[in-house]
Amino acid sequence: MSWRKITKPSSQYSVLLLLVVGIIVGVVGYFTVQQTLHITSSDAFCMTCHSNHSLKEEVLASSHGGSKSGVVVECQQCHLPQEPLNYLIKKIIVSKDVIGFLTIENFNTQAWLEENRKAQADIARDYLRSIDSSTCQNCHKRIYEDQPEAMNNMAVRMHHKNSKKVPPERQTCIDCHKGIVHPYPET
Ligand code: HEC
Ligand code: HEC
Ligand code: HEC
Ligand code: HEC
Repeated sequence: MSWRKITKPSSQYSVLLLLVVGIIVGVVGYFTVQQTLHITSSDAFCMTCHSNHSLKEEVLASSHGGSKSGVVVECQQCHLPQEPLNYLIKKIIVSKDVIGFLTIENFNTQAWLEENRKAQADIARDYLRSIDSSTCQNCHKRIYEDQPEAMNNMAVRMHHKNSKKVPPERQTCIDCHKGIVHPYPET
């Protein structure tokens, strides 16, 4: 296409104008999507569907609830991968939960959570295992390379030994750290 053709009015608008408008729409759209992804990752958003579940209280009562370090870990920091592509894929997969929310009887009740906790926990655990607990490792960096002085000997030994193994023998964080936040039902 020649430059003349680009700047020349088409039937009504010049192709250049259409291009400019297209770019503006694209940029606004991009930021809208980013903003939407961001909002739909907040604790408040998670709790819109899980509002009658004790999940947030469990976080607050746990070692990840800020009592020691002052840091309250967000739901998404453990549950959603932080790498952009995996993040997007996980967001698309969990968007199906809208249907579950609308169709699972009594979903948003504590009774439902207690009854289904083990099954739900295992789905969450399978997912975390599939990403090698990368969300845990985002905060607990280099747990295998240089353990803090204060870490107890048993932890140092277990981590060290595990770090020497190769998959599939190598365990992932949640294999050993079960029920780190929410009570994990053994039966
Ligand atoms: C649209 C409603 C809705 C929202 C918003 C929502 N959830 Fe859920 N969530 C559900 C439903 C429904 C299930 C049960 C899914 C099933 O078994 O089909 C579920 C299950 C889960 C599970 C266990 C099963 C799994 O897929 O791992 C986790 C973990 C979870 N949600 C975390 C979150 C987090 C974190 C957020 C916020 C980023 C969130 N949820 C936001 C409806 C929602
Ligand atoms: C947003 C950062 C963050 C994420 C994500 C995170 N943690 Fe932590 N974790 C912390 C902080 C902060 C503490 C408290 C440190 C302290 O005790 O001073 C902690 C404490 C711990 C402890 C020691 C206390 C205890 O309960 O035994 C373990 C074990 C642990 N985390 C494992 C995990 C695992 C497993 C995951 C992934 C499921 C994870 N963490 C995800 C920040 C994080
Ligand atoms: C082979 C089992 C095993 C694996 C895998 C494992 N841990 Fe541990 N971890 C332990 C044991 C045992 C302790 C000591 C008891 C405790 O605090 O729960 C410990 C303690 C910890 C602590 C508390 C240390 C302290 O005393 O300050 C943190 C934080 C932690 N682990 C994080 C992680 C993270 C993150 C991963 C994944 C990269 C991981 N662990 C993988 C067994 C394991
Ligand atoms: C420190 C990491 C961490 C944080 C913070 C966290 N979770 Fe979880 N969550 C897990 C892990 C790990 C599991 C898998 C079960 C287990 O090992 O206990 C899980 C399991 C679940 C399940 C399945 C049912 C159950 O009780 O096991 C739901 C639903 C869930 N989380 C929702 C949430 C919501 C909502 C928030 C925020 C209010 C949140 N989680 C915060 C780590 C976390």
